Amino acid sequence: MQFGTRSGNPEKSRSQCVIVGVYENNKFSDSASALDKASKGFIKKVLSRGDMKGKAGQTLMLHDVPNITSPRVLIVGLGNIETTDGPKFLLIAKSMITALNSSSATSALCCLLEARAGKESYGWKSRRLVEQSTSGVYTYTEMRGKPPEDIHTIESIDLLVDAAHSKEVKKAIKEGSAISAGVDTAKDLGNTPPNICTPTYLANQAKKLAKKYSSVTTKILEEKDMEKLGMGSFLSVSRGSVQPGKMIIIEHKGAKNKKAAPHVMVGKGITFDTGGISLKPPATMYEMTYDMCGAATVFGAMQAVAELALPINVVCVIAAAENMPSGDASRPGDIVTSMSGQTIEILNTDAEGRLVLCDALTYVEKFKPATVIDVATLTGAVVMALGAHPAGLYANDDTLADNINAAGEITRDRVWRMPLWEEYQPQLNSAFADMANVGGREAGSVTAACFLARFTKKYCWAHLDIAGIAYKAAGSAKGATGRPVTLLTQYMIDRAQEPS
Ligand code: BES
Ligand code: MN
Ligand code: ZN
Repeated sequence: MQFGTRSGNPEKSRSQCVIVGVYENNKFSDSASALDKASKGFIKKVLSRGDMKGKAGQTLMLHDVPNITSPRVLIVGLGNIETTDGPKFLLIAKSMITALNSSSATSALCCLLEARAGKESYGWKSRRLVEQSTSGVYTYTEMRGKPPEDIHTIESIDLLVDAAHSKEVKKAIKEGSAISAGVDTAKDLGNTPPNICTPTYLANQAKKLAKKYSSVTTKILEEKDMEKLGMGSFLSVSRGSVQPGKMIIIEHKGAKNKKAAPHVMVGKGITFDTGGISLKPPATMYEMTYDMCGAATVFGAMQAVAELALPINVVCVIAAAENMPSGDASRPGDIVTSMSGQTIEILNTDAEGRLVLCDALTYVEKFKPATVIDVATLTGAVVMALGAHPAGLYANDDTLADNINAAGEITRDRVWRMPLWEEYQPQLNSAFADMANVGGREAGSVTAACFLARFTKKYCWAHLDIAGIAYKAAGSAKGATGRPVTLLTQYMIDRAQEPS
């Protein structure tokens, strides 16, 4: 999808659909007024029939409105002019693209930037329109024998903007497009079935990224390299699978100072999680095709960072393995030695995410990172705690937590901070090793984070448990969500703005 800007009179502008907003009680936006005037009160007449009441998210498609150049006029409800705000605007953007999708228009002129959305700026609104429109037309069709018939037709949307806001809107379109492409990439990776999206496949995608962007280099650690590094914890997971595990390192060098401390992202890339010998029940096991969404989202964010050529150094490390039961798989009771030297008693082979992440987190010490954020579909417990709205955020540093939270609030790709208290640590005590890999029934998401905290003491670190937000398991929206690519990229954009 292409986005651009236009100025001038919406009634005279050439496009297949012109989109204007009306508030509740038939209060017109400027563009709606312009169309109404040109059409000699046609819009007012239609609205007086009461089919459209201006409620936020309501839409009405009109055809052949008199004296309007565009053959279609899409009226979008903007809600109450006094109380409309950011979240309402998000709903407005979503319903706009849904309505466009049910038409066969290929181009549109969107006049919704003038809509009031509380304190939100033109740039903010542009970002949301680009992001919502792109995600509204996303479909995963790669695996179809023949292409589906009801494919969306919209190819380009121009935003109507006055001269005063043009620069701000253009910048937002650029950022929104890069982020949206990153979200699409993360969705594609997440949705690619596990017989194709293996650790080797992920490694090949990383190599492709490095080919595309000159700022990006990639390095793949093979199992024999990881043996040399002493990554006994990671290897205990990948050994059960015939698919070789890979540690994928992607670097973007954007800072003027090539040696500037990088911001590091680490992703859980379990390309399928059967649970291993602690086998999962069959009913929902298929969901574990999404157990690499942490990897997919740090990859998507990395792509956006490269596309925007952000003037900072960013490193992305993907711990990619498949968790399978086999004659060579780990047994409950095995004790392994992690790269950090700490030993781990594997009481449950289904708690494998932390086992691959802990070695990745020790590995990244060598970058002397400014900050480290790991992203993982780590626990079912976080889904029970927070549901599908925020990611669970854990951090050993308040500034880092606040910065992630701020990026989440502004993009509406939100997080909720959870406790990482010492009081929980004894749940991980083991009779024979330095720690166990599970901490019992209580506070499962917290104890998983507490496990990781034992490997991240040397730097500023945060952990996002995205098991609840990374994918929808069923229904019409089934598939990877691409969250939290938007949050992560915003976090990096914000870092690029900090004085170094
Ligand atoms: N990948 C799962 C977590 C998960 C569960 C993600 C549901 C998405 C939806 C993870 O590897 C896992 O199996 N975690 C266990 C940990 C337990 C054995 C301590 C869990 O959450 O049940
Ligand atoms: Mn598991
Ligand atoms: Zn898992």
